[in-house]
Amino acid sequence: MMSRHAGQAVRLADYQPTLYAIETVDLDFLLSPHATLVTARLAIVPRDGTDAGAPLVLDGDGLTLVSVSLDGRPLAAEAFTATPDGLTVATPPARPFTLEIVTEIDPEANLALSGLYRSRGTYCTQCEAEGFRRITYFLDRPDVLSIYTTRIEAPVAEAPILLANGNQIVSGTSADGTRHFAVWHDPYPKPSYLFAMVAGDLALVRDDFVTASGREVDLRIYVEHGNEDRATYAMDALKRSMRWDEEAFGREYDLDIFMIVAVSDFNMGAMENKGLNIFNDKYVLAAPETATDQDYTGIEGVIAHEYFHNWTGNRITCRDWFQLCLKEGLTVFRDQEFSSDQRSRPVKRISDVRTLRAQQFTEDAGPLAHPVRPEIYHEINNFYTATVYEKGAELIRALKTLIGADAFARGMDLYFDRHDGDAATIEDFLACFAEASGSDLAPFLMWYRQAGTPRVTARGTYDAEARRFTLDLAQTCPPTPGQPTKLPVPIPVRFGLVGPNGADLDVTAVSGATVKDDVIHLTEASQTVVFEGVAARPVPSLLRAFSAPVVLDIDLPLEDRLFLLGHDSDPFNRWEAAQAIATVALKAAAAAIAAGGTSPETDRSFVSALGTVAADETLDHAFRALVLQLPSETDIAREIGSDVDPTAIAAARRNMRRAIAEALADTFAGLYDRLSTAEPFRPDAAGAGRRAFRNTLLDYLSLVPAGAGRMERHYDTADNMTDRLAALTALVFTGAAGAEAALADFYDRFKDHPLAIDKWFVVQATAPSDDTLDTVRRLTGHPAFAFTNPNRVRSLVGAFSMANPAQFNRPDGAGYAFLASTAIDLDPRNPQLAARLLGAFRSWRTMEPGRRAKAEVELRRIAAVRPLSPDVTDIVGRCLA
Ligand code: TRP
Ligand code: ZN
Repeated sequence: MMSRHAGQAVRLADYQPTLYAIETVDLDFLLSPHATLVTARLAIVPRDGTDAGAPLVLDGDGLTLVSVSLDGRPLAAEAFTATPDGLTVATPPARPFTLEIVTEIDPEANLALSGLYRSRGTYCTQCEAEGFRRITYFLDRPDVLSIYTTRIEAPVAEAPILLANGNQIVSGTSADGTRHFAVWHDPYPKPSYLFAMVAGDLALVRDDFVTASGREVDLRIYVEHGNEDRATYAMDALKRSMRWDEEAFGREYDLDIFMIVAVSDFNMGAMENKGLNIFNDKYVLAAPETATDQDYTGIEGVIAHEYFHNWTGNRITCRDWFQLCLKEGLTVFRDQEFSSDQRSRPVKRISDVRTLRAQQFTEDAGPLAHPVRPEIYHEINNFYTATVYEKGAELIRALKTLIGADAFARGMDLYFDRHDGDAATIEDFLACFAEASGSDLAPFLMWYRQAGTPRVTARGTYDAEARRFTLDLAQTCPPTPGQPTKLPVPIPVRFGLVGPNGADLDVTAVSGATVKDDVIHLTEASQTVVFEGVAARPVPSLLRAFSAPVVLDIDLPLEDRLFLLGHDSDPFNRWEAAQAIATVALKAAAAAIAAGGTSPETDRSFVSALGTVAADETLDHAFRALVLQLPSETDIAREIGSDVDPTAIAAARRNMRRAIAEALADTFAGLYDRLSTAEPFRPDAAGAGRRAFRNTLLDYLSLVPAGAGRMERHYDTADNMTDRLAALTALVFTGAAGAEAALADFYDRFKDHPLAIDKWFVVQATAPSDDTLDTVRRLTGHPAFAFTNPNRVRSLVGAFSMANPAQFNRPDGAGYAFLASTAIDLDPRNPQLAARLLGAFRSWRTMEPGRRAKAEVELRRIAAVRPLSPDVTDIVGRCLA
């Protein structure tokens, strides 16, 4: 279904408040799979200054109007106009009035998973960003806050559970006991995107929580029958999140009940509807046999994220969708901090930066680049991006680093205090921190307005005689769509000057920049920072803990990087040193291979440094695993930047992995075997770290003869999904003799667990084989696959297109053609999903000319399809622009 504003641009500069407020919303759902009746009673008030009788224009999307009345009287036909995509009351009264609208909708036919739809028989809603208008006509925008009361009626047998936002205030059953209803009331004013209702036959997992001030909260997680045991980890994560938000941000929960519902068909990860979060079941259900450690951390993070939205998103919401990062960036920052406190901070930081670089830096370097706060959009669903979420979180972190933890805490308190109940803007948010820190944050706003990843160049020189270290810093930002030139932004560069014994050197004076608490404030296009009293030649360790989302260009010699890898007190920069060494080598190797030559040899001192880290028992297992993992093919491609040959990159990376495996086979086998003594599975940081390290070692061993027996044994003896999947991946990726048998065994074991079968799809879709595309095509016809389920589609088509660059970017263009055809098929049913898959084309312009031409043909083929959703039209249009 096409939305009303298809193709139309929405601009931040055009923002106007609505002419009318909607104070209360009374909704009545008479549920039926193909013909649900929705009655909406809206208490409407003209805002101050609205002209008497100014037209009331409500949004709709594919709606069927049954009736409309004003203050209890049916509206005359000439008093309004209604189309599927809007309802206009020509001259409403110049006083408060009630509009009652009845619409009929078809949840069963709603495959877009936006609005009211059914997931395996359960009725559920998804209203962000513009799904509420698919339920009833409304002022469907985040700055219209109303108090909602929701009545749901359904046959008891079909939907014994009836849920909506807030507290249940009434319920009842018909005389014959076949039908029942429930009424829910949410006392907190909210925008329509936070509305939710659920009805179905679900099992309940219960617990409770006592808030800091002594309020008792009823905690409920609803899952499909039979999945109750798999929701205990999610419940535990919820209680830890609630406690943490009290301790870290002073935020208490505000209703008597908090509910989570897990559904199988969901377009994103989860949704923060007030008091009734709805989740993709992937982020709720976990058992050791079926979920990996990555799944457990995902659940912990997403449960926390949605819960934290209660304050950053719900109590304080966004004025308009341009301000999306106000809730998303801040809430990602909060969930990252939570996970850091629950687990290992450096390990969490490294994995967040890996995601940031893989997703956001890549997005920022291509045609889909946009500012953290965009100024124009055609389809808002396409702006739930790595830039808004992940770079948005980095900006909060950078702000905290610049103004300091105390001022940041005061600023947060002020924000909660001042804006509770508001629909706010980024300017409102920054004003709180400017006030709390006494600093001018106008320059910081540029971070929100400019797309592109700034590049910081750093060159150091040491004058032994003068005991002076001089650091020349400069920042530039590449042009992005619509923004050819950029202004400098304030960049916090956390640093240390590492002395010969590995400890940071003291300095007696600094000039050329503000330097506070080991942070250089780089605010100009270029600055020279001079450190006096430096006793020995230092190795600069810059951007510690990745203090800003920038590319750091510092051409340290290999010896200096090896020194940092061995000695930096900042664990992030130890890891980063290894990444930087590998990146330089992999770029050179890929260039040599692309030019028809062979890979240069991998530097022996680097290999032996990796061996030293691997064997260093003073280091966390998880950290050692991260250091051993080379930059991804996507990372290398982004570093190369243009005329990319993904086949050459894959070969360069494979060669380096093999060289490391061959050189360190004995060390790795010894470490692997010593870790093999089984301990009972626990999904905590220590257990996950041990498994990550052991599985990384297995990955290397799989490339050398030592892997042969070990892979099969690893698979057979696994008592958890993390280990079993690692072994399956190693077997399949190396084309080992046991691969087919293991794939068959895996399918057989988990055929009743769709989320586990998703992993079976991912392994096959990401295999580094020229047969992979054929396999993926064949698997789309597998009985366990369904184009209607987003998790299945992402596991097969998404994984192939996003996580297998060498095969997706096949030189014959068949990968592009497959994705284009799949998206064209999906678009009429689920445009959000189709558009998201097409994000895989975001790097097409960086390819070498042959591939570039083939990608363009496919993008143009999609663009020519009619009808085409606004979602896909927007993505393809921007890719081709
Ligand atoms: N606001 C949600 C979150 O970040 C995500 C979300 C946005 C979403 N749009 C959606 C979820 C559409 C499902 C469908 O937590
Ligand atoms: Zn969110």
